[in-house]
Amino acid sequence: MKYKLSLRQKIVITFFILFSIVILVSILGFLNYNRLNTTIHILEKKESLLNNILESRRYEKNFFITKDISNLKIAIEFLNKGKIQINELLKEENSDFLKKELVLIENYEKEIKNFITKYNSSLSLENINMTSIQEKGRLATIELEKAINEKRSEIKKIIQSSRIFLLISISSFVLLAIITFLFLVKNVNKPLKNIEKAIQKIVSGDYESIPKIKTGDEFENLAENINNLLKEMRLRNRQLLQKEKMAALGTLTSGVAHEINNPLNNISTSLQIILEELEGGDIKLHQELLEEALRQVDRAKDIVKSLLEFSRESSFNPKEVNFKTLIQKTLKLIQGEIPTHLQIEIKVPENLIVKLDSRRIQQVLLNLILNAIQAIDNNPGKIIIGAETVNNDQDLRFYIEDTGPGIPKENLSKIFDPFFTTKDVGAGSGLGLAVSQGIIEQHGGKIEVESELNKGTKFTITIPKAIIV
Ligand SMILES: Nc1ncnc2c1ncn2[C@@H]1O[C@H](COP(=O)(O)OP(=O)(O)O)[C@@H](O)[C@H]1O
Ligand SMILES: [Mg+2]
Repeated sequence: MKYKLSLRQKIVITFFILFSIVILVSILGFLNYNRLNTTIHILEKKESLLNNILESRRYEKNFFITKDISNLKIAIEFLNKGKIQINELLKEENSDFLKKELVLIENYEKEIKNFITKYNSSLSLENINMTSIQEKGRLATIELEKAINEKRSEIKKIIQSSRIFLLISISSFVLLAIITFLFLVKNVNKPLKNIEKAIQKIVSGDYESIPKIKTGDEFENLAENINNLLKEMRLRNRQLLQKEKMAALGTLTSGVAHEINNPLNNISTSLQIILEELEGGDIKLHQELLEEALRQVDRAKDIVKSLLEFSRESSFNPKEVNFKTLIQKTLKLIQGEIPTHLQIEIKVPENLIVKLDSRRIQQVLLNLILNAIQAIDNNPGKIIIGAETVNNDQDLRFYIEDTGPGIPKENLSKIFDPFFTTKDVGAGSGLGLAVSQGIIEQHGGKIEVESELNKGTKFTITIPKAIIV
């Protein structure tokens, strides 16, 4: 597991990559901008240099029109300005071209100066070569113009490449954003959704382990911890279940003792009669008495067997059972608890076959019936146990209704809480309804209560998809 990255590491790495790309793009953008800036700067300087040379040429031409020598002096002034500019430019861009340009300007200047000396001595244009001066001027401008045009196209190229660069960086940003989004969905959202689903299952009472998450990060740990918690909860739940069973058994003991005492008494009486009339007695009567004793032994065995069955701890195990038989078996367990003035009515179809964990549902029935008996107490009353199919004969609904005193409104929200009881210490554990609710939720069902003071209480249980057709 060690080679896998934690969520924090994954996020840090993603951010680092994003950050590096932003820095890289910024640096490249900045370099491009700088290059553009210096190119424009040099272009401007060269243009101003060209202007100065063009000015000096204009004055040179003016001289030939006006014959005023001061024009040539101004031309030299412009050339001097140009020389200063070239020297400045040379500091920034030490190129052969600039050196050559400087020589050309100097040549042009020298030619003008020569011309001035010659003109001053003769004061006429005869014998003076005028084409040479024009040629030198032309040479000084032509190369410069060429260089300026080159710079212009260079600027165009830089702008074009910046455009492409911008396009590439925007699309790679979009791509990265999509990748980051997908990464978050896969590495954060999906595991979170899985855990949410798992927790919802837990909330609905399903304590089975949640599926393992194999992301190698904090989520894997979280899922593992949730599973440990669930294991602990399953254990506690089992203990609680067992505790409640024992509590219910405690309540049953006196009744069961009475139940077993009856057959024992009958057996004892039968055996006494046989013993007394052993000699010369009526064989037929003896046979009948022994058969009766055997029947009573079977009855006691039956009771002990169901008691053992009930108290045994077992895993969740849904099986097909006849629901009416299940109710009758349960009532047999608590026969001794039912007072004579209490009437029990069963409204369950004969052939209602259901699939559920019969032992656990038996525990629910037992809890609810015992609660009803205890609520009615020693007063005359009636308990109705009913069952029907609902939802297109798919779901089982059964109810236990009593004519007891009802449950006060303020208690209705508490009765399913573990250890909530209104009974005397030792009489009630407060676990019956909590455990029953747990068992029903294990079956994916729900338990509801309606109660009216001085009228009675009705617990209704619905178990989905329990009906076997
Ligand atoms: N049929 C009922 N009629 C009136 N009150 C009831 C009935 N069933 C349950 N209760 C109330 O709910 C409480 C909790 O029931 P339960 O969880 O079975 O614990 P216990 O029976 O040990 O008190 C009872 O103490 C009682 O106050
Ligand atoms: Mg109870």
